[in-house]
Formats: sequence, structure tokens, C-alpha cells
Amino acid sequence: QRVRTAVFPVAGLGTRFLPATKAMPKEMLTVVDRPVIQYAVDEAREAGIEHFVFVTGRNKGVIEDHFDRQFELEQTLEARGKLEALAELQQDLPSAGQTSFTRQQEPLGLGHAVWCARELVGDRPFALLLPDMVFKSRPGVLKQMMQAYDVAGGNVIAVEEVDPADVSSYGIVARGAGPDTGFEITAMVEKPRREEAPSTLIISGRYILQPEIFTLLGEQTKGAGGEIQITDAMQRLMDRQRFTGVKYQGRSFDCGSKIGFLAANVAFALEREDIAGGFTAEIRKLGFVLPEEARRVSAKR
Ligand code: G1P
Repeated sequence: QRVRTAVFPVAGLGTRFLPATKAMPKEMLTVVDRPVIQYAVDEAREAGIEHFVFVTGRNKGVIEDHFDRQFELEQTLEARGKLEALAELQQDLPSAGQTSFTRQQEPLGLGHAVWCARELVGDRPFALLLPDMVFKSRPGVLKQMMQAYDVAGGNVIAVEEVDPADVSSYGIVARGAGPDTGFEITAMVEKPRREEAPSTLIISGRYILQPEIFTLLGEQTKGAGGEIQITDAMQRLMDRQRFTGVKYQGRSFDCGSKIGFLAANVAFALEREDIAGGFTAEIRKLGFVLPEEARRVSAKR
């Protein structure tokens, strides 16, 4: 069955970004000039997703506004002849009727947030995108995963290698047979201690899942950190269904951490033709030396 629906859990409190996230959802923090959530939605649209399900919470209303039209703004842009900006705004939007919003009423964990989307997703496979993870990759990570899904079906998870010191911050998978574009996952564990991790391959926050996951999530078993974990439910589903890992081409920025967020801003700014030149000049003034790639972008201008 084709994957048409994507779930975006956006209910998290963003305590790591206080005070920035006191009154504003962390998903609306910007990498250059686009909110973090927009990157995940763009990636899903590129992969052919047609229904965007957001699991929100209190104080997340602006996410809904962000994915709506803003008539006053559009009229003003038009009156001022800013047609390019206007076209860009419209281009970023899913079509009317393609977005759905539901709320996670209590912060019981990522697995619980996903379970809250069960009625909106229904009995079909779906994509799950954790917006904290922002990628620089072509094609997008979800599109790379769709290629593996077309071959293997079942469940697909994007993975990447991390430093052994970082494994305890992520879900970790054990790799079985097959190439980077689609290998068998033989085990997974959420936030293991370094010495217990089966590998250094982390779950990168992109999943294609079969709807049977909802039944397992509904049992509401608590795992790491006392939370209902998607990884635990997947581990149980592995008894019955295939899980394929995709070691995607590209790199990630964990925008749930300050370092990752700042790195994403630098990396995406250096890639933007309208910004790279001025930005590299400022970085040089701060005394930093730029990598070759960034120098090329700014020299092109
Ligand atoms: C979640 C998942 C974890 C995954 C990570 C990616 O953890 O539970 O398996 O590796 O996202 O960012 P969280 O970051 O919500 O603690």
C-alpha cells in the first residue's frame, strides 16, 4: 500500500530551549528563515505525502496558523509588488484539506503522541517524521526511504552512524544483512548505555510504519525515561513484521539540541545564494576559517 499520510509529533515542551520556547513552540524556531517544522513538511511533500497529521498540545496554535493562508499578509505583499515572496509563501503550503491536527493531552512520551494520531491515520501504513531532526540530503531522507519501501514493504527506518559517546541519547538498531539502501534490522533498543548498545547506528527520526504499531502502542507500556516509547513498540512488532534500515545519504542536524540547531543555521545559511556571501564575510570577521565547500558557495556570487 502506498504511503500517503505523515505524522508529525509536535507536542513537546521544548524545555531545552527555554526561555525561547516559553510562549513559542520549539518547532517554530527558525533555521535561517524557515521554521524547523517546515523542513519536515517539505521533506514529506517531496516524498509524495498528501495528508499531514500534526499531534500538537497546548500553546502550539501558531503551527496551525503557519500552515494556513494569511490573507492580510498576502494582500499586502501583492499590493507592494513582492510577488516572489508571495509565491514562496503559497508554495510552502499543503493544499486545503490536507492537514489534520489532534492533541496529545498529556506528555506521556513519543509513542503516546504517535498513538494519538491513530484515528486520523486509520488502517494504512504511514510516515513518521520527528521535526527536531533536520537533514541536508538530496533526495530527502523520506524519499530515499520510500525507495526501500517500494522494494521491501513492511517498516522502514532511517539510520546513521554516531560517535559511541552519543548512543545513549538515541534509539539504536542492530544491523543484519543487506546494503545501505535497505538492510535487515535485527534488534533495536531505546537510549541504551554505551556498553549495552548493539551498534552505533541511531534511529534518525524518520520512519515508515505499518498500522499494527497502534495496537502495540495502545497497550501503553512505559519504557526508557518512564515514557511510552515508539522504539519499544517497534521492537515488539519486529516479531511479526519486517524492519528495513536505510543508511541514508546526507547529514542530519539534531535541532532538539542547541549545538545541532546552531550548526544547522550555519550550514543552511552557507548554502543560500542570497546569504552566503554576506554571512561568510561576517564569519571571517569573527576570526573563523571556512571549509572549502562554503568558500565555493560564496565565491560563486
Ligand atoms: C526520539 C526517539 C529515538 C530517536 C530520536 C531521534 O528520541 O525515541 O529513538 O533516535 O528521537 O532524534 P527523543 O529525541 O525524542 O528523545
